[in-house]
Amino acid sequence: MALPPTEARAAAAAGCPVDHEAMARAAGGAHHGYEPFDLKDPFPAYAELRRAEPVMYDERIDCWVVTRYADVKSTFENWETFSSENAQAPVRERGPEASRIMTEGGFTAYSGLSARIPPEHTRIRAIAQRAFTPRRFKALEPTIRENTRRALAEMLANPDRTGDFFAQVAYDIPTITILTLLGVDTAQVPTYKRWSDSRAAMTWGNLDDEEQVPHAHNLVEYWQECIALVTRAHADGGDDLIADLVAAQGEGSEITDHEIASLAYSLLFAGHETTTTLIANCIRVLLSHRAQWEQLVEDPTRIAAAVDEVLRYSGSIVAWRRKALADTEIGGVAIPEGANILLVMGSANRDEAVFEAPEVFDISRTDARNHLSFGFGIHYCLGNMLAKLQAKIALEETIAAVPGLRLADGADIDFRENLSFRVPLSVPVAWEA
Ligand code: HEM
Repeated sequence: MALPPTEARAAAAAGCPVDHEAMARAAGGAHHGYEPFDLKDPFPAYAELRRAEPVMYDERIDCWVVTRYADVKSTFENWETFSSENAQAPVRERGPEASRIMTEGGFTAYSGLSARIPPEHTRIRAIAQRAFTPRRFKALEPTIRENTRRALAEMLANPDRTGDFFAQVAYDIPTITILTLLGVDTAQVPTYKRWSDSRAAMTWGNLDDEEQVPHAHNLVEYWQECIALVTRAHADGGDDLIADLVAAQGEGSEITDHEIASLAYSLLFAGHETTTTLIANCIRVLLSHRAQWEQLVEDPTRIAAAVDEVLRYSGSIVAWRRKALADTEIGGVAIPEGANILLVMGSANRDEAVFEAPEVFDISRTDARNHLSFGFGIHYCLGNMLAKLQAKIALEETIAAVPGLRLADGADIDFRENLSFRVPLSVPVAWEA
């Protein structure tokens, strides 16, 4: 159990060399401008936190907010002290009505991998990794390219030469990919997008009891479908990842149907939500740095490096949680056993102690790949290659089809309210004939 916020703060203060109250006063108020759910432009607050209070207790989310690169990386790395078991826990407690709906609907999903801990995590990850074969990714490449071309052509057919790249191109591409990988009917893209939005909102959002109710219904439907996918794979076989996992059971792999359904529940969310954001961010950030967009038009071989710089500069997930399993410390600050920790990768990626001129977007930097946007250590993102492949293809195709693409005049892009997923609400674009 986490200590109540005031106790955690007192416990930390007792063994802690840093005077948090004095620091907060010196910074002109608590939290240094950090607003956990407001992701429109969190970077000035991140910079202030790194400077003034790199490990700060935030009672609004009952988390220790960690913002320096070295601390974020070492906490990810030290899985024995910092467990991921809270990574998928709802930030806002489930209300009574949402809880009733989910219990009665047989909702028993939690996490495929990211919130599981060794030895269970080690066992399932090894089996899942074997199913994530390069052969499967390679086979998907032409489909990804084809889907991108089709989505672009539909957007570019708009006679007023304006569109929303997020909704019209980035939204579908990775969703079709992951549904194909898992053998799900691709006509179901809107359904899975609806379920995924609910998952992001119910776990990392800031919903009150009433707002949770429709999302609770969606999560029940989503989980029941994951169970049905496993049942179907047992009955019909197939050439997809779920069928591979079911077949692995027969070949002696120790994985239950519930664990396979949980993996499906994870992948059918993690496998597209973040990649849609990455593809949208590639366009949004590059078009806001026109000269670098032009460099890619000139030399598309630089696209892979540009994708890494987008991941560093504007990652799809800006913060991820861990739980302290013992009294410990991070960056010299005492952390009590049971405390929740929020590792702010969005800040670590702009730490001046690691990256030169970190606030500058620069596709020619050679160390962009050291970003922490995919986490680090035993839970390092299983789908990182697939995500980068899709962003690369999407950029290649977009640059080839419409090199004169630009952000629409006066575009002021807002971001979804969330603790972890920094999702642009739209990417308005325009182009010449
Ligand atoms: C831009 C796209 C993506 C980003 C930014 C991203 C980010 C992350 C992060 C931050 C974690 C947690 C790492 C940790 O706890 O140390 C993670 C884990 C994971 N990701 Fe991704 N991800 C992306 C795309 C994908 C895709 C496309 C898939 C699947 C096809 C995927 C599957 C997973 C899985 C299964 C885990 C859990 C791994 C484990 O706990 O062992 N991700 N990802």
